[in-house]
Amino acid sequence: MNRPVHVIVGAGQAGANAAAELRRQGFSGRVLLVGDEPHAPYERPPLSKDVLLRPQDTRCAVHPEGFYEEQGIELKLGVSALALDPQARVLRLADGQDIAYDKLLLATGARARRLPLLDALGANVHTLRTLEDARRLGAELRPGRRIALVGAGVIGLELASSAVELGARVTVVEPTRAAMGRCAPPLLSGFLCDAHRRRGVNFLFGAGIEDARREDGDIVLELQDGARILADAVIYGIGVEPDIALAQGAGLDLDGGVVVDAACRTSDPHIYAAGDVAVRRGQARRETWENAQKQGIAAARAMLGLALDAEGAPWFWTDQCGYNVQCVGDMAAPRWIVRGDLAAPPFVLFGLDGEGALAGAITVNLGREMRSARELVDRRARLALDVLQDPGQALRALARAVGEPQPA
Ligand code: FAD
Ligand code: NAI
Repeated sequence: MNRPVHVIVGAGQAGANAAAELRRQGFSGRVLLVGDEPHAPYERPPLSKDVLLRPQDTRCAVHPEGFYEEQGIELKLGVSALALDPQARVLRLADGQDIAYDKLLLATGARARRLPLLDALGANVHTLRTLEDARRLGAELRPGRRIALVGAGVIGLELASSAVELGARVTVVEPTRAAMGRCAPPLLSGFLCDAHRRRGVNFLFGAGIEDARREDGDIVLELQDGARILADAVIYGIGVEPDIALAQGAGLDLDGGVVVDAACRTSDPHIYAAGDVAVRRGQARRETWENAQKQGIAAARAMLGLALDAEGAPWFWTDQCGYNVQCVGDMAAPRWIVRGDLAAPPFVLFGLDGEGALAGAITVNLGREMRSARELVDRRARLALDVLQDPGQALRALARAVGEPQPA
């Protein structure tokens, strides 16, 4: 009998973890991991941080060298998957090969959203998604260089932090009124902007770019409110677009990403999706390292017909201005309170839902408290505000006292 073939498209965080999990669970068929980048799977979080700040000492590989060979995982790198035929169960690759599969995982991630007005300027205009992008940026971020960062999302703020550390002069342009509006409550956003301003970052909120051109060797950005910015380089981070091309061609259900259930199953019984490209029906698509990791593992288990682990609240982190910020749960919770002092980190922020139950938590330079904060959020704890806000009451003891997790 032929060995079953499980194919993973996208050799990133989700894909690499899925491949490893298939082997960890004893799958002895063929595992093929196809990626269009030339590198073995690597992690993206260091790209905006250590790859720029400490390029010599930074390693980003998801798995150590030799891992894929030892595990019998076939890596096919630098090759795009072009088309997926769900009826025939065949994946077509750009090198002309057709691969017949039993189960297939789409882990194609997302790509930086483009702004043609800026791309048209040519040199010294960048986005950041890949290792090559980060290396190009490394050459731009030098002492005294004027850097315009377009978009005050996580990329914009993390790059503002790294650029200032490397001696550059930074202006951030954001059309809305808040930084990190997609994934941070106003209290955290305000705290981070103040920290950046103290390091010399200039924020221009509330106006988009009207025009962009070159004048006498400068890049000139004109904003809708009339402001003008002169820069040596522009880096923009205005969000991502999930890479749904294969799924679309295959006729899978889409809704701002490839629609999946809790077991990462798509609308085709032999195709799964995980990571930035996947969206759970009725939820917002998650764009985090942890989600890619956990969904990759969950998808592999589901491909083998195994049970899934219980899901906790979503978590992500960001490092900026010397602050390690960890966020768990619903960042859009309607009410936030402070445990500690915003003017004197470390501190914790707690988010409460409409009924006063804990919906989210954020630690700032207090990562050791995240585990307990996470347990409290998973349990949708209801605690008196003065108890939550009292740093004298250990979170660990509170988490132990509130009992078992409640369904969200
Ligand atoms: P990806 O990492 O995008 O991998 C998908 C892979 O599939 C890519 O290599 C892509 O080229 C490939 N691919 C796409 N289409 C095809 C095709 N047709 N054929 C072959 N290959 C294909 N998250 C955090 O929680 N904390 C952080 O601090 C953090 N920092 C980040 C910093 C940066 C600069 C970036 C860009 C992201 C950061 N993230 C962070 C987010 C996190 O890295 C992503 O959520 C995660 O990488 C998603 O993993 P993925 O495997 O779904 O997708
Ligand atoms: P983002 O969605 O976090 O932020 C995009 C920002 O750009 C928003 O503030 C938005 O208002 C603004 N914007 C949108 N259109 C614009 C336009 N036309 N002109 C100017 N501004 C515009 O996306 P971001 O920062 O680009 O990050 C990309 C991806 O990288 C995300 O998936 C993110 O999760 C990931 N990432 C995650 C990090 C983390 O979790 N620590 C760190 C860095 C990146």
